[in-house]
Amino acid sequence: DFMGELKGIHVLRERLKEKLSLDKVIIVPGNSDGQEWVKQEMGKACIAYLKSIITANNTIAVTGGSTIAAVADVMTPLNKEEDYLFVPARGALGEKVENQATRIAEEMAKKSRGNYSLLYVPDPLSEAAYKSLMEEPSIQAIVSKIKQADIVLHGVGDALKMANRRKTPQHILDKLKENEAISEAFGYYFDQDGNTVYRVRTVGLHLHDLNEIGHVVTIAGGQSKAKAIASYFEAGKSDLLITDEACAREILEG
Ligand code: BG6
Repeated sequence: DFMGELKGIHVLRERLKEKLSLDKVIIVPGNSDGQEWVKQEMGKACIAYLKSIITANNTIAVTGGSTIAAVADVMTPLNKEEDYLFVPARGALGEKVENQATRIAEEMAKKSRGNYSLLYVPDPLSEAAYKSLMEEPSIQAIVSKIKQADIVLHGVGDALKMANRRKTPQHILDKLKENEAISEAFGYYFDQDGNTVYRVRTVGLHLHDLNEIGHVVTIAGGQSKAKAIASYFEAGKSDLLITDEACAREILEG
């Protein structure tokens, strides 16, 4: 019954907070692995949370991926009296356009009646290209906005799934396998203890920047992401995890 189900989710939430050492967790019913609408439910929870924390002139940095794209799908106007800015957290990281952070930031801004600033950089970048791009004043201006974001919305992926989706070169795939990479977020690949195994060189937020950001929101669900999420939380800072029931159960019991 409905009350029983609510109580079940409440218990899961408390256990997950303890297991991942998190202050806040939101769990929506379902499994986003086979049920695309569950990503939108996580998206609605994210927007409700955003509305509760956002203040005038906030900058919101967003990553790519199908989960954050689902947040954009269900975005609604935020507090329209106030001004805020959406920016991509990092470069495109080899994702197809629908899943790119720049496209998602633009859609979120339009639907929420905010503004956006985009970052157009090819990636991955060579060391030399990275250095020279970082000397461009227009790139420096956007990167400094990204690094001063007040809120970050980001996804987490399974390491090898992400590497394949990004058409990562074979020698890097081999390195990820050899070092037992489990999760990926912000272009960083982590093993089960949260050690960085490999990182895509691109412009934008770095993992250590998260420590300076007031609200880091992690949105990731689906039973198949359980190991990846547990691995990410060995490394990354987050103030809130929004996930689904199947993933929560798998993290706790799988
Ligand atoms: C990518 C992000 O675009 O999406 C990654 O750059 C993240 O950091 C991934 O792991 C998650 O994708 P999805 O489709 O599982 O939400």
